[in-house]
Amino acid sequence: MILVLDFGSQYNQLITRRIREFGVYSELHSHRLTIEEIKEMNPKGIILSGGPHSVYGENSFRCDEQIFELGIPVLGICYGMQLMTHHFGGVVERANQREYGKADIHVKENALLFEGTPKEQVVWMSHSDKIIEAPKDFAIEATSSSTPVAAMRNKDKNLFGVQFHPEVRNSEYGNNLLKQFVFQACHCKGDWTMANFIDMEVDKIREQVGDRNVLCALSGGVDSSVVAALIHKAIGDQLTCIFVDHGLLRKDEGETVMRTFRDQFHMNIIKVDAQDRFLSKLKGVSDPEQKRKIIGNEFIYVFDDEAAKLEKMDFLAQGTLYTDIVESGTETAQTIKSHHNVGGLPEDMEFTLIEPLNTLFKDEVRALGTELGVPDEIVWRQPFPGPGLGIRVLGEITPEKVDIVRESDAILREEIQKAGLDRDIWQYFTVLPDIRSVGVMGDARTYDYAIGIRAVTSIDGMTSDWARIPWDVLEKISVRVVNEVNHINRVLYDVTSKPPATIEWE
Ligand code: XMP
Repeated sequence: MILVLDFGSQYNQLITRRIREFGVYSELHSHRLTIEEIKEMNPKGIILSGGPHSVYGENSFRCDEQIFELGIPVLGICYGMQLMTHHFGGVVERANQREYGKADIHVKENALLFEGTPKEQVVWMSHSDKIIEAPKDFAIEATSSSTPVAAMRNKDKNLFGVQFHPEVRNSEYGNNLLKQFVFQACHCKGDWTMANFIDMEVDKIREQVGDRNVLCALSGGVDSSVVAALIHKAIGDQLTCIFVDHGLLRKDEGETVMRTFRDQFHMNIIKVDAQDRFLSKLKGVSDPEQKRKIIGNEFIYVFDDEAAKLEKMDFLAQGTLYTDIVESGTETAQTIKSHHNVGGLPEDMEFTLIEPLNTLFKDEVRALGTELGVPDEIVWRQPFPGPGLGIRVLGEITPEKVDIVRESDAILREEIQKAGLDRDIWQYFTVLPDIRSVGVMGDARTYDYAIGIRAVTSIDGMTSDWARIPWDVLEKISVRVVNEVNHINRVLYDVTSKPPATIEWE
């Protein structure tokens, strides 16, 4: 295992990710870990991440400096390198100006971390302070025009420092550098796989849960599905899943979930058919925020009612991902409460959270799902909002309108898949705006609804661009929707990015 200590750089999650791509397990932890905790983890190497601080700052992040004496190879990146320099008596110069962007470095002879790469190469710098004199016993391994010590090494102690960010793709040979550290300096084997991860996690879950029970709200989305499959592998029938069908699911979604988890995985799964409950609460409501609130609250009431019928549940499983934790700051990750009361559940009903995916990235969760036998249609499912089709029927929700969206969405999905675009387009769906227009069908005048197609490319849903679906594919979708879905006589394509629009229409 390679331990990455987090000093607050925006890139630190990339370091663990790159290393895992080499087949070496890596975890990101707070710089506050004690030396005892680090020893217990028994890492083969330690990486000190970059960070926004200056080593001269009063409250700047530090780690236990005994790590330099453990005999474990250490690589300091940016701030991490400056800490190392400061500790060993080198000179870190305070700077008011930031060096940000690409820089050329010149690599010295026999520099281990640069082996096999050119002497002149481009790296990504993002720092203020810089090292102007390496500590005694450290050799300078690379320089740049603005940074006399761009890389350094203490051969005897197996300590390395780089001023730039090898984890960022803009550092041309950055991946190579990390590989050199992991394999040549730390002698890792590179045999970590998802199968190892499953074995490791299954043991952990068994130990944590013992003979107690776990409850999971299964939505059929990637994260909750994979978490359920993993926990089920560990503890079988001690896991109970509740799947709430609020009547706002996509076509065949409920059947897919039940077929997969009840029939294929033989899980304890309770399907709650709550369509009527949701639709009657939503009757007459057209304000988007109010609709969301009603759906969210009702979900908790339904979940709550079902959970209350079960024997005591000690744990609540959640599909929290690594990025969820990193985004809220790893500092806070350490303090996430283990006792968590799901909003709306009775006060005395306390669960301990169990979050076995919280060290994984989304693509790793997909790989894990595949390894666990979760079918592709779930593993590669596009994001789907909790309020479901309820926020894709604009204005008041009626069963008839939900059907229109559901049917047109099914056609869209089918055609996108047939065109082989389903993994390129991040999210695609239809929306029913509350407008009707005149058309002509056969020889008759129609006055019916228009349906909108929304298809976007994105990385994380925070920003997006509209997908350039080929005209002929759009044409097929349009013809089919108008012919096969009642009450649609017009098809629109949304060509707005986010911002200024959002992905959903409500
Ligand atoms: P917007 O519309 O804000 O959507 O651009 C960004 C992404 O978030 C999804 N989304 C939701 N997901 N509950 C969810 O679980 C919600 O209430 C919700 N609202 C939007 C949306 O589908 C898109 O992927």
